[in-house]
Amino acid sequence: MIDAVGNHEGSETLHAEAAELLPGGVSSNFRLGGPSVPLFFERAEGSHLYDVDGNRYVDYVLGMGPALLGHAPADATAAVAETLARGQLFAGQHRAEIELARLVVELVPSAELVRFGLAGSEMVQLAFRLARAATGRPTIVKFEGHYHGWYDTALVSTAPTLDEDESRALGEPSAPHLPSMGQSVAALADVDVLPWNDLDELGAYLDRHGESTAALIMEPILCNTCVILPRPGYLEGVRELCDRHGVLLVFDEVISGFRVAGGGAQELLGVLPDLTVLAKSMGGGFPVAALAGRREVMELAGDGRVLHGGTYNTNVVSTVAALAVLRKLRADGPTIYGDLARRGTRLMEGLSEVAAERGVPLHVQGLGAVFNTCFGVDDVQSYRDYRHADADRQRALLRALIDRGVRVTTRGTWFLSAAHTDADIEQTLEAAADAFGAL
Ligand SMILES: Cc1ncc(COP(=O)(O)O)c(C=O)c1O
Repeated sequence: MIDAVGNHEGSETLHAEAAELLPGGVSSNFRLGGPSVPLFFERAEGSHLYDVDGNRYVDYVLGMGPALLGHAPADATAAVAETLARGQLFAGQHRAEIELARLVVELVPSAELVRFGLAGSEMVQLAFRLARAATGRPTIVKFEGHYHGWYDTALVSTAPTLDEDESRALGEPSAPHLPSMGQSVAALADVDVLPWNDLDELGAYLDRHGESTAALIMEPILCNTCVILPRPGYLEGVRELCDRHGVLLVFDEVISGFRVAGGGAQELLGVLPDLTVLAKSMGGGFPVAALAGRREVMELAGDGRVLHGGTYNTNVVSTVAALAVLRKLRADGPTIYGDLARRGTRLMEGLSEVAAERGVPLHVQGLGAVFNTCFGVDDVQSYRDYRHADADRQRALLRALIDRGVRVTTRGTWFLSAAHTDADIEQTLEAAADAFGAL
């Protein structure tokens, strides 16, 4: 049965009040937008969100991905509650971080040493610093449509227009596109941008610029653009080119890590990076992130040659929450990932079917645990394919779904959790069928 949503009056009132104190009435720009205003929520539990107007949603946003085990996962909340009275920050070490590091090393195939932080964006900075220190080279290569956090050194060409770029020669960096006013152009002086999923581009670039390239960073599954999988042989080819040119390979597994498999995309796809950025799913909603990687690179931070700091790193709450999540994934991995794949596939196929029945040209792409829906494009293999997607239609669908009690990210990315049930999936398909009819 569809959970018809009433009004958003409470959210509208609170948003007006918030806007007096918070720019845009929000605390992250990614929360701007929504049905009429950014919604205000009362609580979240399992696969559901409850807003201040008493509306209930099946949630496929999951806090932008972290709630892999569902909202308020019992193991993590119990572990956190148990430690609350014992203090949070020692400006020193505690036992739980050793065990957490051990679990990361156990689960993530390329991990030998681990440093912890609070957010993906900051661990990307550590990856860049280590890569430059390890190679003695300045340049970081990132790829069109990949997102590596909001800091000046990484925020470039996340959704470029590419208009001015069509005459670019093979393997030459594409024109950098700065998404935000106020960004430091200097901070991007040693960052080059290339099209992804194209070995010829990368090979030609490294033939010319390999000697000054410290690292490539990529989402090994491009979750931030349409959930694009690497072409067969692409990651293997990238690995080979990196080895040939002495360039470090950094996988940003902030979304794919612990989500697409216990060991992330590198386990699923069988190609190992030198450094891996992890965040989101490892904390079950609590703020925790990690950089994991090869011993000889990570050790540069261990003797102080590369600086990594952070007052709140391995605070007790984040650490024990992550420990509970990773223990659960290690213990129940086969069931959890099996269910995610089965339910996610059912949802993807069901969405395609109900859209086709109503003549709606919906394109569904990705994996069960994370996939994307969009319009006006087909078989998207790169950001360049995706930029022709129909954003207006996308917005209309997401609003129609919200009105029917289903919440999806504004980019059309759907995250599944271990808490979603078969009943949630069927209810979502019913809501989607109704929404497609209304579009
Ligand atoms: C692939 C990827 N890398 C990095 C980040 C930045 O992580 P955070 O928002 O925790 O700073 C994100 C955030 O969505 C992401 O999706």
